[in-house]
Amino acid sequence: MHKIDQFSGSKTLTANAKWIAASFLIALHIFLVSPSPAMDTSATLKNAVHNRFLIGAAVMSHTLDIPEEAALLSRQFNCLTSENDLKPQHIHPEPDKFNFAPGDRLVAFAREHNMKMTGHCLLWHQALPQWMFEDAAKKPLPREKALENLRLHIKTVLGHFRGSPIIGWDVVNEALSDKKEEYLRSTPALRAIGDDYLAEAFAAARDADPNMALYYNDYNIEQPVKRAKAIRLIRSLKEKGLRVDAIGIQGHWSLRGPNLKDLEDSIKEFAAEGVKVMITELDVDVLPSSRQTADVSYSEGKQSKNDPYTAGCPDDVLNKQAKQYSEIFQVFMRHTDAITRVTFWNLTDRSSWLNFFPVKGRTNYPLLFDRQCQPKPAFFSVIRVLSTPNNPGAAGTK
Ligand code: XIL
Repeated sequence: MHKIDQFSGSKTLTANAKWIAASFLIALHIFLVSPSPAMDTSATLKNAVHNRFLIGAAVMSHTLDIPEEAALLSRQFNCLTSENDLKPQHIHPEPDKFNFAPGDRLVAFAREHNMKMTGHCLLWHQALPQWMFEDAAKKPLPREKALENLRLHIKTVLGHFRGSPIIGWDVVNEALSDKKEEYLRSTPALRAIGDDYLAEAFAAARDADPNMALYYNDYNIEQPVKRAKAIRLIRSLKEKGLRVDAIGIQGHWSLRGPNLKDLEDSIKEFAAEGVKVMITELDVDVLPSSRQTADVSYSEGKQSKNDPYTAGCPDDVLNKQAKQYSEIFQVFMRHTDAITRVTFWNLTDRSSWLNFFPVKGRTNYPLLFDRQCQPKPAFFSVIRVLSTPNNPGAAGTK
């Protein structure tokens, strides 16, 4: 008996030792290969960002027809922007014709999923119906007629969406000139109304819905020359007694830019003017381009040699992009008192406008989610930055 006990005891001991060793190896394996919290595929941007700033994506109403994309939108983001559906040409194609249905669909989606929405945009020199500021021969309309058209447009659109999840509007988009010596870009509105068309647009928006937040939105305004023009614009609107609630830095960047010091300086300088800062159209282009601009009238023509990743984006490029996003978000996290929203321009690499700009028909990879809606290295690097608890900006809540 004793012997047997001894025997079975030692047998049990051996079994226990084996079990312990096996458990240890399994635990070690799980520890080594399972994702760290920052690689957690169940992580979401909106949970990670908490209430530091809103996190959004720009979509078209027909994005909602793709179930995976619609699910990704409501799961990851707490804010959406209309990519095209609310632009003047789309929503107000003729003087007495408004097309509200696509915008209403986005509004209904935002409401259903408890998301905020931002309106893009009341006035832009692109996607602008000719009738608003020009006659059939493309001559500027008389100032009073052009003003009447502008006011009617703004009043009707803001009136339609009053009480909706739309919390703010880009009142004017891209009014500043890219030419060093020129302040305002020559646009149909400027040619018909004059330099004060911006003030008129902000006044009309305030009058149409006094509770609506009003934004000025542009690209490359983190760069010193255009930033100075944006500050001049904020001051001139304020001098006229008008309200500008936030400046939208579009954020169409690439593996080569922005200059992080320029970005940080611009956030500080805009905040010092008493306006909030929003990053409104964020993406990180990975394809070659001879110029960094988001001017949609710019084109590089179709050059196949500039489309290197049609079969897939190499890992080293995806990792460079992840690093770029990480550095950009680290800047945002240092300024959570000033920044109230960060919005990506589109949802997945499949839907990105950069597949068509500045060269049509390329295969680009600028966003956090790939063509199958799966998170990319850039997603995990952003989650990691947003989840860093000891970040100086992390205490800021709004
Ligand atoms: C782009 C859209 O993404 C495209 O679908 C459309 O064909 C052209 O406009 N800056 C802006 C946005 O403010 O409105 C632009 O959106 C991208 C550059």
